[in-house]
Amino acid sequence: MNKKNSVDFILKNRSTAVQQERGTFFAPSNIALGKYWGKRNTELNLPVTSSLSVSLGGLGAKTTISLSTKNSDQISVNGALMDLKSVFAVNLRNFLDLFRNNPTTYYQVETEINIPIGAGLASSACGYAAIVGALNQLYGWDLSCAQMSLLGRLGSGSASRSFWQGFVEWQAGVAEDGMDSLGVPLLETWPELRIGLVIFNAQQKSLSSRSAMQRTVLTSPFYASWPAKQAADMNCLRAAIQKRDFVELGSAAESNALAMHALMLTASPPCVYSEPHTLAAMQKIWQLRQEGLSLYFTQDAGPNLKLLFLEKDLEMVKKLFPEIIIVAPFGDAERVVLVDEQDQVIGTEEKLKAHQLALLHRAFSVFVYRKKITGGETKFEFLLQQRHPDKYHCGGLWTNTCCSHPRLGETVLAAAQRRLKEEMSLEVSLNQLGFFVYQANFENGLSEHELDHVLLGEYDGVQPIVLNPTEVQASCWVESEALQHALSAHPERYTPWLKPAFRLVLEELCIKS
Ligand code: DP6
Repeated sequence: MNKKNSVDFILKNRSTAVQQERGTFFAPSNIALGKYWGKRNTELNLPVTSSLSVSLGGLGAKTTISLSTKNSDQISVNGALMDLKSVFAVNLRNFLDLFRNNPTTYYQVETEINIPIGAGLASSACGYAAIVGALNQLYGWDLSCAQMSLLGRLGSGSASRSFWQGFVEWQAGVAEDGMDSLGVPLLETWPELRIGLVIFNAQQKSLSSRSAMQRTVLTSPFYASWPAKQAADMNCLRAAIQKRDFVELGSAAESNALAMHALMLTASPPCVYSEPHTLAAMQKIWQLRQEGLSLYFTQDAGPNLKLLFLEKDLEMVKKLFPEIIIVAPFGDAERVVLVDEQDQVIGTEEKLKAHQLALLHRAFSVFVYRKKITGGETKFEFLLQQRHPDKYHCGGLWTNTCCSHPRLGETVLAAAQRRLKEEMSLEVSLNQLGFFVYQANFENGLSEHELDHVLLGEYDGVQPIVLNPTEVQASCWVESEALQHALSAHPERYTPWLKPAFRLVLEELCIKS
């Protein structure tokens, strides 16, 4: 099987004609804690071992793809048009060839990437993942993240892990056609975990990870020992994540990266990515650890280090590495604000725990609507979203435009605007209508016990609605009467808070219910 057969197999029965003027998608970059180093199949980027990464939240690539009106592809990165003969553009165009309907289909690809490209910061991972996601939107394929992961892998192996936030394991699989070699998100979170990017050199590396990886496999006399080392490290990493044992996580990740670089040093000719700065920083970290600081590093195919530490040591780490870029892969969003029935703050709790113990907490539900005038009569249509199947509860159910929890110290309005942007890519001015309290218990043992603020805003009819695939599976506009009818006829298809929240919206818009 070659790449093209693989793509055709995954896209079997999907549209070959574009469904939208343009497709846009954001994919986070990811950093491997247990590395992918070596392929068993170079055509399909099938790895020798499984690997495990953590995604970098808002750091990554946002790509928009449309059909080009010129007689060639046009590729721009951060606003600069790329020379189509550059290695970067040639690789990208070879990948795009897999998706062209005919040889005269050309694409306009605009990528905004907020990490240095080609400096061992996993820009190829988020770059190829964003391209796949944008093509999925453009052609309306409606692919799951798992299917997109299979496609992303064909562009760059590590892209298979860039379709989710949080911890992701790329399972190596055993099938020859690679259909079982894809990313799988882990359920565990770790709100206190921090990643620090220490960039000594943001220049494009002269030796690509692709060449170094293959050279290591073919020439290192020690490569045969890698799968066992990787398997042992992966076990430690999984266990550490489950127990939230930071020392075990940091030790396994650091040792894994050092072993990968040790293998590279034994390749012929040797592959060396470390620079004097890199080694000096490693020594500084080992010294700090001896002095009691819980700080570890990992390193990819570049001279820069990624530090691993916990929130409690943030200020200290910032002082020690003033240029550091800090990422909170699980955000502070993982704590909810506990309130009483009058919305007075009582404290905060970990999101999952609050849902396990049915603790009353502050939430919000946003409704975005548009007006439709037919035969002189004004009708209201509401933008609904279908929750991602992997959500911690109510996965796959339909609900209002976006719902979430404010962080401590964040106003409901600011939180609603933030999440509307993150989930649907929309900026809409919102009115707060009021709140209600409800409790619903789910089959998986979790409960929603929320004080839910309802917000309403009108869509401007212009902004593209871009779904965040880690949160939202699909969206649609539904006319108010049809929604009221469906909520009574098929309540099992909707989240339990939609109906009471919608009541406030109907009152506000003076729509009879
Ligand atoms: C060191 O995914 O860039 O970052 O599949 O050839 O495109 P290709 O390789 P790529 O390799 C990444 C290697 C790494 C480790 C990792 O991310 O797991």
